[in-house]
Amino acid sequence: MKEDALRGKMGFVRGQTALGRRGRAGASTRLDTRHIHYATSPWWPHTLVAADAGRGQVLVRGALPLLYEKGRVMKIIKAKDYEDMSRKAANIISAQVILKPDCVLGLATGSTPIGAYKQLAAWYEKGDVDFAEVSTYNLDEYRGLSHDDPQSYHYFMRENFFDHINIDLNNTYVPDGSNPDAAAACSEYDKIVAAAGYPDLQLLGIGNNGHIGFNEPDDHFSKGTHCVDLTESTIQANSRLFDSIDDVPRQAYTMGTQTIMYARMILVVANGEAKAQAVHDMCYGPVTPACPASILQLHTNCVVVADEAALSLCE
Ligand code: F6R
Repeated sequence: MKEDALRGKMGFVRGQTALGRRGRAGASTRLDTRHIHYATSPWWPHTLVAADAGRGQVLVRGALPLLYEKGRVMKIIKAKDYEDMSRKAANIISAQVILKPDCVLGLATGSTPIGAYKQLAAWYEKGDVDFAEVSTYNLDEYRGLSHDDPQSYHYFMRENFFDHINIDLNNTYVPDGSNPDAAAACSEYDKIVAAAGYPDLQLLGIGNNGHIGFNEPDDHFSKGTHCVDLTESTIQANSRLFDSIDDVPRQAYTMGTQTIMYARMILVVANGEAKAQAVHDMCYGPVTPACPASILQLHTNCVVVADEAALSLCE
């Protein structure tokens, strides 16, 4: 779609931002950031629209004034260490629950959020936060594991969080990895997440290769829940939690990138030097599916809480 047509469709085209310009150096992908333009919409004059002018596709909408801090949208909070990162993240999550007791939380597994879950459980014990009305939707699950398998994310969530707070387990959802019918399991999960109205807050970790959920580097951004083949680097990284690398499942069901972007707020947690490149690329690299987390630059309410080591390449 030409700029003129875009103008007609969405109002005044404001031209490329630093994001778009950075994209020129980026890899050639189906979402070619050379064509990303930002525009205000005639229907929502205070709204930012990012559109792929080449394909006439509207990608995201959000609040224009949020392009703050050197023209960037992401809010980056530096934590001293893992404990500090966990406490800061838990503070943000508990504020969400206090402000909206029946909120929808999108949750992640992995090593990074465990400290935040522990802190939230401690605050629940003290009576500071109440999860009775909260519902939760996890990002992903290994394909082929039963809910009671100690390596499953169903099990992980109970062990690390749900068993320590007063959440109603009937209000907790994780993709059904035990369903061998991938198409059915994924479309069922999409319906469940859509019916909940999408998360008020989505907690994310980030893979060493920039994955979010199990959305691995690719040539396009994914949409809804789908079955993925895990990359060798992810299998390698996750093998630390299994007896042997051969035990790591090769496939998973994961919420898609588009669904993740529907969350009203995104909170990314990251710690350690191994994440430094991925965190840099997420925050400052081109928006490209080669680093799935880079799409978060287009989210209008994304907070990154990372320790000094994870932010070491961002100085
Ligand atoms: C897990 C998930 C993954 C992890 C990522 C980082 O639900 O969605 O994207 O967040 O692999 O894992 P850790 O925290 O173990 O480094």
